Amino acid sequence: MGLYDNHILPKLVNIACSQKPAMKQRAKVVPLAEGNVVEIGIGSGLNLPFYTSGKVKKVWGLDPSSRMWAMVDGKAGSVGFDLEFIEASASDIPLDPQIADTVLVTYTLCTIPEITHALAEMSRVLKPGGRLIFCEHGAAPDDNVRRWQDRINPVWRKIGGGCNLNRPIPELLEQAGFTISNLETMYIPGWRPASFNYWGTATAG
Ligand SMILES: C[S@@+](CC[C@H](N)C(=O)[O-])C[C@H]1O[C@@H](n2cnc3c(N)ncnc32)[C@H](O)[C@@H]1O
Repeated sequence: MGLYDNHILPKLVNIACSQKPAMKQRAKVVPLAEGNVVEIGIGSGLNLPFYTSGKVKKVWGLDPSSRMWAMVDGKAGSVGFDLEFIEASASDIPLDPQIADTVLVTYTLCTIPEITHALAEMSRVLKPGGRLIFCEHGAAPDDNVRRWQDRINPVWRKIGGGCNLNRPIPELLEQAGFTISNLETMYIPGWRPASFNYWGTATAG
């Protein structure tokens, strides 16, 4: 962990994630969150302004990087619900089973190293009938874009803090036992290898 990983990368990730097209995506999914929410990979808190305060009781914001959370600025002070930051990995969520009405994950499934384990943990903390709400970039449907994703991925993962361009998001969710209830996809404006978005909702089991 050097200067790049500790200081430069968190700022670059924050800039990339706060671009207008990604912010428009947040507005589509975050307002669906309700009750007790576990947000996986809360990063610099870019989703916080999009929660509906009357619908949300509590948000546990989980992230192994306190450096990302340090960039939350004033966003945490103005939320109308209980907010707790937990410095932890999604591979080992330090919360009781069936505690959450909602698990929210945006632009993070690309990065989590032990993704199968982490999805099992998300399933464990969801109440029966609770919803996983997701918005992620991942494997593109077009062969030419997909080829570039596969080619660039080894280098991208190194400079992008572990981010993978080519994860097949719906397949990963289904393999982890989630049933997808709604799924939408499109290229959002931006660099095509990183811009094919999947968003929607899923239930565990
Ligand atoms: C591209 S950022 C997205 C941040 C935020 N979700 C957003 O939408 O702006 C990816 C985030 O995943 C976090 N992350 C990396 N590994 C993780 C893990 N094992 N469990 C949970 N979060 C992780 C990173 O620290 C980073 O904050």
